[in-house]
Amino acid sequence: MQDRDCDVTRLAGGAGLAGSSGRETVVRESRVTVPELARRKRTGEKIAMLTAYDFPFARRLDAAGVDVLLVGDSLASVVQGEDTTLPVTLDEMVYHCRLVSRAARRALVVGDMPFGSYQIGIEPTLEAAVRLVKEGGVHAVKLEGGRRVADRIEAIARMDVPVMGHVGLTPQSVHRFGGYRVQGRGEDGRARLLDDALAVQEAGAFAVVLECVPRDLATEVSAALEIPTIGIGAGSGCDGQVLVIHDLLGLGEGAPPRFVRQYVDLGEIVTKAARMYVDDVRQQKFPADAESY
Ligand code: KIV
Repeated sequence: MQDRDCDVTRLAGGAGLAGSSGRETVVRESRVTVPELARRKRTGEKIAMLTAYDFPFARRLDAAGVDVLLVGDSLASVVQGEDTTLPVTLDEMVYHCRLVSRAARRALVVGDMPFGSYQIGIEPTLEAAVRLVKEGGVHAVKLEGGRRVADRIEAIARMDVPVMGHVGLTPQSVHRFGGYRVQGRGEDGRARLLDDALAVQEAGAFAVVLECVPRDLATEVSAALEIPTIGIGAGSGCDGQVLVIHDLLGLGEGAPPRFVRQYVDLGEIVTKAARMYVDDVRQQKFPADAESY
């Protein structure tokens, strides 16, 4: 990153680089901002985005250098156990946005606008975006759709709230699509996707998610746009990538989609740890003397 703040912080009993003076030099990268993402588009430095829904995970993802934390409405599926993203409410999104934004020191935090919060008119859309910023503490909001939601993107952007678009497979449209299918296939599909992405850009979005589209189309769209594209199941030609954190950690239900790279099987680790605990309690091995007062 270009803008690096280097501040010297006194940490009580701090570990790591602390010298005999008790001072520790902490290199703290400055906040990822909307202009910083625009700069990345120009220089070609890739943007790493992940979803986050709570404080402990957001804290760790932020410390790991994730550029953008998305409080996705995938919350409904991976945290609440729903079949689709449709049931999650604005109140629930606001609550989870607050947990994540409290944890994020460096990452740009984006809050998803849930189904129903922007479909029924401009006024409710603006109210919902204001709540996500004011109560949820997010830096930007995201909503799904292309040309048909351009007026809402424009209205939010006019309030100086940065908006991220989302085209291709938009999960809130699952019933119209008849399932979670790759979008942008065939000549019409390709033209519609490019048109949607351009409409989102023209409406004032600062970035756009391309979900489940053929990689050559995503590459073409990324070249055509001046704003960064963030791909999920859209190949390597996008300006950045996003994954749902539960998929990456092996905490999802069932087999993950083909585009997911699972880095660890945390589900297995959690189950093993819980089994060990249950055995210890049953066999009266926990708590030990050292774990008692
Ligand atoms: O809700 C979500 O997690 C998303 C990502 C898949 C982009 O919108």
